[in-house]
Amino acid sequence: MLVLGLETSCDETSAAVIDDNKVLSNVISSQMVHLQFGGVVPELASRAHLRKVIPVAEETLEKAGKSLADMDGFAVTYGPGLIGALLVGVNYIKGVAAVLEKPFIGVNHIEGHVYSNFLDDAPVKFPLLCLIVSGGHTQIVVMKDHLNYKLIGKTRDDAVGEAFDKVAKLLGLPYPGGPEVDKLARQGDEKFTRFPIGLSREKTFDFSYSGLKTAVLNFANKLGPAEKDAHLADICASFQKAAVDALVERTIRAARTYQIRQIAVAGGVAANSGLRAAMKAAGADYNIDVFFPAMEYCTDNAAMIARAGLQRLQHGHRSNLLLNAYPSLKLEEERHQE
Ligand code: KG4
Ligand code: ZN
Repeated sequence: MLVLGLETSCDETSAAVIDDNKVLSNVISSQMVHLQFGGVVPELASRAHLRKVIPVAEETLEKAGKSLADMDGFAVTYGPGLIGALLVGVNYIKGVAAVLEKPFIGVNHIEGHVYSNFLDDAPVKFPLLCLIVSGGHTQIVVMKDHLNYKLIGKTRDDAVGEAFDKVAKLLGLPYPGGPEVDKLARQGDEKFTRFPIGLSREKTFDFSYSGLKTAVLNFANKLGPAEKDAHLADICASFQKAAVDALVERTIRAARTYQIRQIAVAGGVAANSGLRAAMKAAGADYNIDVFFPAMEYCTDNAAMIARAGLQRLQHGHRSNLLLNAYPSLKLEEERHQE
């Protein structure tokens, strides 16, 4: 089954063509216009999507050697995300599907991240414990089967990607901060200082990252500007260790509690080198298989949206022309789907 997927929920305009699990093309156009503002400006994001959506879709079709008419179905992110940005993608796909009289499906962006683990020849099986770590989400989900989600843990305040971005900002690093902190952390000493892990006294699968962010801020202020700059890599390494330790501890404990022997990590923070190494090491200790998406499928991309859409289309799910965009859509929620 050939599916064209489209992702316009935030600041990446992306289109991909997949043939069942196999990715034929995955074009990602990142919007540079936000860099000067140190964060995504929603109105600028919508305008950039509007300019780019057709060229990006055409480029991905050309790379795949296919045309729109070759597609068996279409998939588009319909939430969560920025309302204007989402609407550009949703309306483009509704128009194309209506003109070609082909099925289409609205995909939850978070479900897309989950399905980044099912692209190409990934050997993932059920039951699966999924750790979803992005700029907006930090969740642990049990999946007994495809499209079946039971939320068992979530952040009570900031998402872990948001903590990376905020810590980067307060340390004076460029946006988006996650990859910058990761790069510096590799050169630093994680034992330089010990930052607190949120909710460490509770037997919960929830997370809290706002205290960690504040601890880094206070620590940096106490050091003063010169010392802070001299130890930037060490601060990043110590922060990253605390952030990652919380993710690994909760996820491994959840897998053991629910007797699940497979863990899949998804979302932008799945690209983090510290998390990849620590989760794999912990998995090996407890005889649990740990899966990460290939690096290009960790951050926002349309291949994952196409793959999640394929799963739903194969299960007989369809959207209709009433499909709208939902900025705060939850993983377990479905709207305007048949
Ligand atoms: O999944 P994603 O691309 O967008 C959302 O759905 O939010 O995730 C973006 C988040 C940002 O917070 C970014 O800083 C973080 O993922 N991120 C990283 C790394 N690469 C991206 N965080 C830590 N280490 C990385 N290497
Ligand atoms: Zn995302």
